[in-house]
Amino acid sequence: MSNSIESTLVETRVFPPPEGFVKQANISGRAAYQALLTQADDDPDAFWGQMAREHLHWTRPFTQVLDESNAPFYRWFGDGELNVSANCLEANIERGLGDKEALIFEADNGDVTRVTYQALYEKVCQIANGFKQMGYQAGDRVIIYLPMSVEAVAVMQACARLGLIHSVVFGGFSSKALQERIIDVGATLVVTADEQVRGGKNLPLKSAVDEAIAMGGCEAVKHVVVYKRTGGNVIWHEKRDIWLQDLMKDQATSCAPVAVNAEHPLFILYTSGSTGKPKGVQHSSGGYLLWAKLTMQWTFDAKPDDVFWCTADVGWVTGHTYITYGPLAAGMTQIVFEGVPTYPNAGRFWQMIERHKVTVFYTAPTAIRSLIKAAETNAQFHPKSFDLTSLRLLGSVGEPINPEAWMWYHINVGGERCPVVDTWWQTETGGHMLTPLPGVTPLKPGSCTTRLPGIAAAIVDETGADVAAGNGGFLVIKRPWPSMIRNIWGDPERFKKSYFPEELRGYYLAGDGAQCDADDCFWIMGRIDDVLNVSGHRLGTMEVESALVSHELVAEAAVVGRPDATTGEAVVAFVVLKGATPEGEQATLIAKQLRDWVAKEIGPIAKPKEIRFGDNLPKTRSGKIMRRLLRVVAKGEAVTQDVSTLENPAILDQLTKAV
Ligand code: WTA
Repeated sequence: MSNSIESTLVETRVFPPPEGFVKQANISGRAAYQALLTQADDDPDAFWGQMAREHLHWTRPFTQVLDESNAPFYRWFGDGELNVSANCLEANIERGLGDKEALIFEADNGDVTRVTYQALYEKVCQIANGFKQMGYQAGDRVIIYLPMSVEAVAVMQACARLGLIHSVVFGGFSSKALQERIIDVGATLVVTADEQVRGGKNLPLKSAVDEAIAMGGCEAVKHVVVYKRTGGNVIWHEKRDIWLQDLMKDQATSCAPVAVNAEHPLFILYTSGSTGKPKGVQHSSGGYLLWAKLTMQWTFDAKPDDVFWCTADVGWVTGHTYITYGPLAAGMTQIVFEGVPTYPNAGRFWQMIERHKVTVFYTAPTAIRSLIKAAETNAQFHPKSFDLTSLRLLGSVGEPINPEAWMWYHINVGGERCPVVDTWWQTETGGHMLTPLPGVTPLKPGSCTTRLPGIAAAIVDETGADVAAGNGGFLVIKRPWPSMIRNIWGDPERFKKSYFPEELRGYYLAGDGAQCDADDCFWIMGRIDDVLNVSGHRLGTMEVESALVSHELVAEAAVVGRPDATTGEAVVAFVVLKGATPEGEQATLIAKQLRDWVAKEIGPIAKPKEIRFGDNLPKTRSGKIMRRLLRVVAKGEAVTQDVSTLENPAILDQLTKAV
């Protein structure tokens, strides 16, 4: 099991939900939660059927809730039809919210653009009409490589409107990573921007698309639509490229939504697994949207006057569910932020909360930890220097939040009055699974607390048997749920093997180790596979290793995670070169070369924090790399484990000294 951040603070206090919050909460008090939980456990079909009828608009009502005949390829609401975009736009306009602000966009430089539900609807329709005119239709795959912008949300919604399947690639991924995704998903359309603006700098995007396509294998791509963000220089391919602004011009501001089957893929999002290339996680339309909307109302207690801010990028699942789909389905006003938390200074988040009177704020522990450092060294950037009284609820996502960061967030950002919802979920789960409900759950810093109604989470051993409270085991979900992953794009065998291993009785295997205490509160202990979590971003050790060994100097590489006070985990690489093992200045130079190489192959987020060179790697007599030992060495600790099975114990010494 990889290590999550080590805590020096032991916080055993329990924080009950504030009375004022309980009174007005969408799910108010334990009895209300218990009633939902029991209803969902006793008759899941009736429960989910009722939720789906109440919360979504169906063009054609479903008659069957769950079809298990081809498990684990479950179908939810499988004979129903709906349109996701109409559920996010028309549904709100029809109930009188046309003039309500849907998006408040704040650019990197602080400029603000406000977009009402009516204006967003018109924009989405114009883009959809443009795509339609170019010949794209339901089922086609669209790669989206855009910066955080109104356009990113609108393009995703436009795809949903036509039944085009989008696959968003985070703007921080390299052209190589982009090319792999274009090929794997079989994209015919790519949407990008000339440049993105982050932290005061303009960074190219379009040129990465050009590079990706030039690498080959992307012949299926017919068009590249380019959103003009900065007006920076781009190389233009006359027949292939078209400006988004030109595409939208003269298009009608209405576009009939295409009703799709509830199981029609809404999107494919690539995420790291323990082996091989990233997996294309395929999500549905109906079940996914249902959970996106319900969790907005349950976990985030969505209210008509809320100003919601999720700081994620739409390149990750959090940005899909809690920016593009959930908040819009729930008719909320939300902030979309282009920039970074530290520009122009580390007070940016707090200043934006004050400026826009944000009420519900959702961010990652890494961001909190890095801002704590800045705030504690400069009072100007401390949350206390801002008026944050608009806040009523705080959320955390992506990695375990250590009790120190939890307490700081609770006291300094939430003024001790805002519940903190520590939400555990994954790209594969589509939405929150384990989380406190702010009007119900007593909070325990460091625990993502309890399961949501309808989510049959449990801790089991390697045979699938339940383990007793307080014992560690595998986190599984025993019953299917509507927003679950439907498939790995193009690889159903891998889907079955990764998530529904036979020995676990058909349960969904999350890949996290965890334990559950006597109060039914879950504590996540870290991944059970070779997946790292760096700044809340998932990274496969194998991916980084493949990138390293593809460099001409490298013979072998092993990558492990090391606990890091800011990023949660950091990447440490042990590398054997084809030539002599470098030392001193030469080692520094080659290490830099290799780090840049990884950034080029995957993206800057995958750069190893540290590279150590050795003549070999610690291996068993059968040639298996002993990562367990490398993790100890990476932490800078002495190896006290039994090394008698090692072929070459002396190598540990060399790697320990090779700092
Ligand atoms: C980890 C992000 C502890 C976990 C939404 C999971 C967490 C992986 C939490 C999924 C949390 C996410 N507490 N660990 N609240 N949230 N994780 O797919 O290891 O990018 O399996 O989805 O992040 O990462 P992903």
